[in-house]
Amino acid sequence: MQIRTEAPADILPIDALLKSAFPTSAEAKLVRSLRENSRFTLSLVACSDEGEVIGHVLFTPVTINGEDCGWQGLAPVTVKEGYRGHGVAERLIRAGLDSLLEFGYTACVVLGEPDYYSRIGFQDAASFGLTSIYNDLPEFTPGAFQVMALEGTPFTDKSGLVEYSPEF
Ligand SMILES: CC(C)(COP(=O)(O)OP(=O)(O)OC[C@H]1O[C@@H](n2cnc3c(N)ncnc32)[C@H](O)[C@@H]1OP(=O)(O)O)[C@@H](O)C(=O)NCCC(=O)NCCS
Repeated sequence: MQIRTEAPADILPIDALLKSAFPTSAEAKLVRSLRENSRFTLSLVACSDEGEVIGHVLFTPVTINGEDCGWQGLAPVTVKEGYRGHGVAERLIRAGLDSLLEFGYTACVVLGEPDYYSRIGFQDAASFGLTSIYNDLPEFTPGAFQVMALEGTPFTDKSGLVEYSPEF
């Protein structure tokens, strides 16, 4: 398996992957509009040995209290059925976080399963005074909104409302 940045030829395979992995085409549409509006900071694909796109992860900018603080949001992450449960998502996410650190970003947020993301190093954002408009939605478990400081960059001086791009 290879992990690399999205190339133009990956756009249709990513679209197909998203449509097959989520119950509706909302995520595919979201990723298309984020791409069109140049909101991508980093879009990575995982490719099988045969070159098929089997995974995708996207990082886009977030603001804190309306201010750009060099933070990123991870969403969505997708792995093709049949390739799941082998750490593909984790490898995509870790590769993405490594690149974000190299690019100079200081922290990343995610909305997801705490048991999963805590393995990677994410922590409950609420314990740092960070909130999201998604915090109270019933489909998300308590602690779903999480944050991770990228290596060597403490972020405890920041608190407030974290917001994704309007496309979300
Ligand atoms: C979520 C998803 C990306 C995980 O991909 P993956 O390559 O199988 O993930 P990994 O192999 O790194 O991790 C698998 C493990 O994490 C758990 N896990 C991963 N993401 C999870 C999630 N969102 N909710 C609950 N558990 C999750 C799996 O149950 C599994 O547990 P185990 O290791 O104890 O067996 C994949 O299942 C998927 O594409 N699902 C549909 C799209 C989706 O819901 N994306 C997440 C929201 S954006």
